[in-house]
Amino acid sequence: MGETSDINNVLFYKGNTCRKRFMVNEIKLVKTGEAAIAEVLTLEHLPAVLALHETTRAALPDDQKMFVLPQSPAYFEKFLAGKGGAMLGVTAGGTLIAQLVLMGPLTLEDAIANRAVTRNEIAFHHVGALDDIVAVKSMAVHPEYRGNELSQHLLAGALELPLLTQVDHVFAQISVDNVRSWELFLKNGFGIVAAGVDPGDQKARFILQKPAGGFTFDAAPSADDVDAVADFSAIARLTQREALVGHIDDMASTASGIKLAFSASAELSSPLPRVAHEAE
Ligand SMILES: CC(C)(COP(=O)(O)OP(=O)(O)OC[C@H]1O[C@@H](n2cnc3c(N)ncnc32)[C@H](O)[C@@H]1OP(=O)(O)O)[C@@H](O)C(=O)NCCC(=O)NCCS
Repeated sequence: MGETSDINNVLFYKGNTCRKRFMVNEIKLVKTGEAAIAEVLTLEHLPAVLALHETTRAALPDDQKMFVLPQSPAYFEKFLAGKGGAMLGVTAGGTLIAQLVLMGPLTLEDAIANRAVTRNEIAFHHVGALDDIVAVKSMAVHPEYRGNELSQHLLAGALELPLLTQVDHVFAQISVDNVRSWELFLKNGFGIVAAGVDPGDQKARFILQKPAGGFTFDAAPSADDVDAVADFSAIARLTQREALVGHIDDMASTASGIKLAFSASAELSSPLPRVAHEAE
């Protein structure tokens, strides 16, 4: 099959087998045993997408509302129409129970100009100005379906889509308090490359990146036993100046908490333009 930029066309194929239109993967929910389907969503899913976004946000306590930022119908509509990205969703028994947005491909310059990855003024050390990127955004699992590993299914499924396999880097921005979420991304090959306080809500965020070829770390960590929350300011300072990449510190993590280690990347490019700072 030749390369094509129309992701819906290439998604019919899994290996050499032609699958049902738009289908990516069949899933069995670990808790309920129900069968579910992960698929690229289309415009007909818009009402379900809006409802799931709202239900997920409404179920979060006030101090976690920033995990899922409010979005307009037009934001989702664009991606569902395949313009500037795509949406992946999981459906069980005809109900949409999990979803995420894939924004891109974009050049780093466009991503910075559109604030596609972050609104913070951070240094992008590990990406060339003309590299293509995709940003993973708006991940939501229906509160009643949590614990079925749906976020892992969504992220793993997304990383297999041509939209993502054909770009140089995948990015995500995640609240520092959302340990469950950034842990998931770290376990799927992402590294913490920057940290900043969002100028909108003054909450701490990590920027995570997964280069197509992965990160190649220097053997010795530059910093270990790092606490995401208590050491946040130090992480922000360090990653602004140096091209360090955060990953799970297996030696220091315990059942009661994850610790991070920061290592130098062996293949780093020189520091590149920073996110333009605009007055709010
Ligand atoms: C983050 C999120 C997508 C993960 O959902 P998930 O795929 O169901 O997570 P897991 O399957 O790994 O869940 C494992 C366990 O954690 C629980 N859990 C998952 N997310 C939780 C949360 N935010 N708060 C409390 N418990 C949570 C599950 O119920 C499950 O517990 P159990 O095994 O006792 O039943 C989901 O919590 C969610 O939609 N959160 C709100 C939106 C959000 O944070 N999006 C990410 C933005 S980057």
